[in-house]
Amino acid sequence: MPEPAPTLSRRAARANMRLHAADQARHARASVADRVRRGVLLVSAALLLIGAAVAVTAVAGSPVAGETRLGEHSVAPPLPAAAPVTALPVPAQSMVTAASCATPAVAAALETGTDADVITAFGGAGALRDAVVGGRAPCVSLSAADRVWVVVNKRRPLDPPDYVPASFMRPEAMQRTADVRLRPDAAAALTALVAAAADEGAGAIGLNSAYRSYASQQSTYRGYVNSLGKADADLTSARAGHSEHQTGIAADLVACSRGCGGIEAFAGTSQASWLADNAWRFGFIVRYEDGQTATTGYEWEPWHVRYLGAELAAAYHEGGFHSLEAFFGLPAAPDYGD
Ligand code: DAL
Ligand code: ZN
Repeated sequence: MPEPAPTLSRRAARANMRLHAADQARHARASVADRVRRGVLLVSAALLLIGAAVAVTAVAGSPVAGETRLGEHSVAPPLPAAAPVTALPVPAQSMVTAASCATPAVAAALETGTDADVITAFGGAGALRDAVVGGRAPCVSLSAADRVWVVVNKRRPLDPPDYVPASFMRPEAMQRTADVRLRPDAAAALTALVAAAADEGAGAIGLNSAYRSYASQQSTYRGYVNSLGKADADLTSARAGHSEHQTGIAADLVACSRGCGGIEAFAGTSQASWLADNAWRFGFIVRYEDGQTATTGYEWEPWHVRYLGAELAAAYHEGGFHSLEAFFGLPAAPDYGD
């Protein structure tokens, strides 16, 4: 019996079967694609989780002072370096570690340490200066007459006005034109400075004036007023209670060969030139530079050095400063404001 001609319904059935086969193939392809998509999604999700865990680890491990660390459960096992780690913003180290008066080592050094200990506790002279200028160091008083960072000028009188240093020493091995003495730290540093100037070929440096008491400064200032008049005297001599000489860490230096010249003869000597370049190496600064009268209140005094300690003097030199007022961010002191 011949095979019956396919009826519509059998054609339809075959067509249905082809359709079904096509559907199955499509479904199979779709299901493979779906599995691939889902796999990709799963892998992506896993990668995101890993990335987040790495990021969490990086943040938790970063040295942010005072930051709350995330718990152990949030920290993923170590992974090879991944992009999210480097993309995280990490605060600059200086912001993280900047010391202030609240730093225990600073408080301890101020209580029982030396000036150098305080500077070290701040993280160095530059850091101390930054803290002072930035208002983070109210415990570092620039009015403390017995500290190397004291600033005395026409707007900043000594406190108390008749302040006397606790101890004195005479610098050794240098010519003196008067019976002069300094605070021991300044005297020792000046002895080293004078020896180095001679060793390095600058010539002999002598000491013309050092510590001056309130009464002695009164008489020095009066002498200038009598010879120059008040206006000019104020450009070259401090009124009593306003002189760095009263702190015991300032000195007027002169050039000596057989004898010693006066302070007015110091400019232009090899000693003056060497001093301007090298005073900082011994912890001194030339306090009243040429062209700084509007800030310091005084005309150029290439002979007047002021002890600042090795660390602060180096920071002053390296920073290219020309006045102590600028170094500590203080207002200019051109006059007494009267
Ligand atoms: N010659 C300086 C300014 C003083 O008298 O202290
Ligand atoms: Zn002087």
